[in-house]
Amino acid sequence: MRRKIVAGNWKMNNDLNQSMSLIDSVIENSAGITNCELYLSPSFPFLRDSKIKCEHTNIKVLAQNVSHLEKGALTGDVSCDMLKSININSVIIGHSERRTIFKENDDILLKKIELCVKNNFEIFLCIGEDLESRNSNKEFSVIEDQLNNTIFNLNDINPKKLIIAYEPVWAIGTGLSANPSQAQEMHNFIREKFKVKFSESISDNLTIIYGGSVKPETAKDIFDQPDVDGGLIGGASLKHSDFIKIVKSIT
Ligand code: 13P
Repeated sequence: MRRKIVAGNWKMNNDLNQSMSLIDSVIENSAGITNCELYLSPSFPFLRDSKIKCEHTNIKVLAQNVSHLEKGALTGDVSCDMLKSININSVIIGHSERRTIFKENDDILLKKIELCVKNNFEIFLCIGEDLESRNSNKEFSVIEDQLNNTIFNLNDINPKKLIIAYEPVWAIGTGLSANPSQAQEMHNFIREKFKVKFSESISDNLTIIYGGSVKPETAKDIFDQPDVDGGLIGGASLKHSDFIKIVKSIT
């Protein structure tokens, strides 16, 4: 059985008090949820407090990024070892905001992936095409390139430690979600690529989640698609009631 996952990516939102009270609300309202695994991804300064708060709950804490190098002169970066020292071992890699605003290319992302694998981290690898690519029918080749340049350089993967997040850039924060059949088509394409590259068993066990303007009203139709195993939620994860509604949309 594939893991079903809903993760809230808070991006650069919420100070300490806001982060703690949002976690409290999610904990309070998610007790007894067994239909999927829950992750929250606060900003770096609040990861440790978040992790402590989520101890003995069903919520896991996820870092939004990690450095491509182990240590050294990298002002502003955070290493795997630093995350490990606060018991965080799940991380988002390759979010489109990192790729576009901070110019993280596939070479850097591959280094991050390799380091995370070495450290036995769980990786949420984001991939997605921009609007121009979609409008010129290049979405499949963009996704294939992103896979070929990063995760497909590994000889083997553990599908229990990897989550692919398909996040079309044109859908992130725009209110314009991919429709359920667009999501299904791309998730199925990604799954097929993993089958060809690795194996049928890896492909069958790989969790592929969708991100991009998922809202309580749209979540169910997207999550009901056979190759969609959950969601990576931005804006709607900042309000606990919306986030919980989305979480409950998974069957
Ligand atoms: P939105 O849900 O705000 O579109 O963000 C999606 C996202 O980027 C999650 O990583």
